[in-house]
Amino acid sequence: MCGIVGYIGTQVAVPILIEGLSRLEYRGYDSAGLATVSQGDLHLVRAPGKLVNLREKLASLDSTARVGIAHTRWATHGKPEERNAHPHIDGHTRVAVVQNGIVENHRVLREHLEAAGCTFTSDTDTEVIPHLIAQHLAQSTLPRYMALLEAVRQTVNQLQGAFAIAVVAADYPDEIIVARQQAPLVVGFGQGEVFCASDTTALLSHTQAFLSLENGEMARLTPLGAEVYSFAGERLTRYPRTLDWSPALVEKQGFRHFMLKEIYEQPGVVRACLESHLIQEPTDGSPLCLGTVTELYPTIERIQIVACGTSWHAGLVGRHLLEQVAGIPTTVHYASEFRYSPPPLQPGTLTIGVTQSGETADTLAALEMEVHRCQVAWPGRPLAFLGITNRLESSLGRLLPHLIHTQAGIEIGVAATKTFAAQLVAFYLLAFDLAFQRGKLDRNALQDILNHLQQVPSQIEWILETQAEAIEHLAHEFRDVHNVVYLGRGINFPIALEGALKLKEISYIHAEGYPAGEMKHGPIALLDPQVPVVTLALPGSVFEKVLSNAQEAKARDARLIGVGPADDPHVHEVFHTLLPVPTLPELLSPLVAVVPLQLLAYYIAAHRGLDVDQPRNLAKSVTVE
Ligand code: M6R
Repeated sequence: MCGIVGYIGTQVAVPILIEGLSRLEYRGYDSAGLATVSQGDLHLVRAPGKLVNLREKLASLDSTARVGIAHTRWATHGKPEERNAHPHIDGHTRVAVVQNGIVENHRVLREHLEAAGCTFTSDTDTEVIPHLIAQHLAQSTLPRYMALLEAVRQTVNQLQGAFAIAVVAADYPDEIIVARQQAPLVVGFGQGEVFCASDTTALLSHTQAFLSLENGEMARLTPLGAEVYSFAGERLTRYPRTLDWSPALVEKQGFRHFMLKEIYEQPGVVRACLESHLIQEPTDGSPLCLGTVTELYPTIERIQIVACGTSWHAGLVGRHLLEQVAGIPTTVHYASEFRYSPPPLQPGTLTIGVTQSGETADTLAALEMEVHRCQVAWPGRPLAFLGITNRLESSLGRLLPHLIHTQAGIEIGVAATKTFAAQLVAFYLLAFDLAFQRGKLDRNALQDILNHLQQVPSQIEWILETQAEAIEHLAHEFRDVHNVVYLGRGINFPIALEGALKLKEISYIHAEGYPAGEMKHGPIALLDPQVPVVTLALPGSVFEKVLSNAQEAKARDARLIGVGPADDPHVHEVFHTLLPVPTLPELLSPLVAVVPLQLLAYYIAAHRGLDVDQPRNLAKSVTVE
C-alpha cells in the first residue's frame, strides 16, 4: 500500500519521480504528490486522485531541482483529499516526508506535538513525522552532515508500527534520509545518482543495482552512494546486488491492459516454472528438483499454509494436492486470522507462506509470529518453513530459508493472474515430489502426470487463441448483471472462489464462489433468471455430481455457464453456454479452468469501461495490516 520514490543526483528530479510513481501506482492511487529541494527551499505539489492529476499540476512547474521524494497513496488515515496527500511537512515547510505504512502511536505523538505548539493540517498518521524531525533538528548541536540523519534516527525510534519513509529537508539539499520498519524499501544505484523506492519496478529503467533495507535500518543517500545505519545508530556494511530484469517487463507490449498481457503470458510462465524444476535426464531419484526444499521432507507430519486473497486460493488447491496425492494432513489459513488465533503448535508441522509479492503485511506477520513460537517452544531445532513467492528479493525471501520461486515475472495488474498459475505449479511440483518420496506415487504414475503437466502450456494457448473472442461476447452480454454465482467442487472449488474474486475486484459486480454441493443449503435462494451461474464441470471424480448441482440451479431458471469439455454431449445439454477447456487429468484441471474465468472477468470489466489494472479501493501489495 502506497508507493514511495526518491531521487538525488545530477539529473532533474521531477520526471524521474513521476516515472517512478507511474510504476508504483499499482500500490495505491488515491492521491499523489512530490517535494523537491532547490535554492534553499522546499517545493511541494500534491493532488487528489490518480497521478494524471498531479501531472497536470506539474505542467506549470519549472523545477530544476536535483533532489526530491514522491508518493502515491492508498488511504488509511484520512480521506483521499489533497490535504491528506503526501509529502507531509513541518510547520515551517523545511522538512518533507513520504511514508508507506501506519504509525500506530500517532495520536499520542500528535497530542504532545500540539501541546508544544505544532499545528497539523491533515488527518494522517504521517504528519507527526516531519514535526518530530523538525523538533529534533531545532535542538540539534551536531555538525551539519550528521544533523538530519540523527534527527530522523531519533524520530523513527519514537514511532510504533510498520513504516518505510523518505525525508528531504530545505537546509540539507545534498541528502535524502530513508528508513524501514516492516515495510519494503530499496535503494538503487546509478552513476552519480541514487534512488529509493518501495519496489525495484519503479527504478528498472534507471538501474539494476539494488540494496534492500532490512527492518530497523536507515540510510543517508547522497549522489555518491548510501551509508546504512541501524536505528541504534551503528554504521552497517551492506552491498547492493544486481537484478537481471528487463525494463520491458514493466511495459504493456501492445496489450490494452497489464492484466490481459499477464493472462496471455501464462503459457510461458507455466513452461518456465516446469523447465526450471524438471530434471531432463533423471536417474533413480525424483525427476523433480526443488533444491533445499527437500531438506524439509523427512520431518513433515502435517502442513499448514498461510496466505491472503488469490494466494490463499492457491493454498486451497495446494491442500487438495498435499492431502489427496501426498497423503499429508494440511490446513489453510487466512494470514490475517492466523496471526491472532493460531492453532496449537504441533511438532512435525511444515508451515508454508504463499505470497506473490513477498510483502503482504498479514502473511509476513503470521510467519514471523510462527517462527517466534517455534523458536520459543523448541529452541535450537531447525525451523520447518517454506515460502512460495514470485519475488526472491522480497521481505519473505529474506525471512525464510527455504523458498520456491514462482518465476512468473513482474505482475503489474492488481488482479493476480499469471502469479496464481505459477503458484499452482509450485504446489503441483511440491505435492508430486513429496508423494513420490513417500511412496504414494510410483515412478510411472509420476512420469505420466508430469507428461500431462507439460501439455498444459499448449492447452492454455488453445484457450487463449480460440476462445477469447467468444468469452468477450459473453462478457458484453453480462456487463450489467448485479450478481454472479460460481460453483465448483473438489479441486475446482478454489477455482470458483478465484473466478468470483477476479470478477468482484475489477468489475465491482457482486460474485460469490460456493462448493457446488452447498448450494442447496442456502445460497440457492439467491437464484433467479438475472443471476448467471458459472459452473466448473471438469471430468473426474465429481463430474456427474457437479452436473446435477448445475441442474438444480437450472431448475430455478438461472442462466447456466459451464466451464468443461467440449466433447461431452451431456455438458452441452446442461449449460446454456459452454466455455470449453481441453480435457486433462482432473488433478491438473485448475490450471486450464481458471483461464476462461480470468478472461470473463477481464472483458466484463473492460466493457464496463473500468480501470482494470487499478481497480478502486485496492492496491497490489497490501503492506499494511
Ligand atoms: O502478494 P500476495 O500474494 O501476498 O497478495 C495477496 C493478495 O493481496 C492478492 O492475492 C489479492 O487478493 C489480489 N488482488 C487478487 O487478485
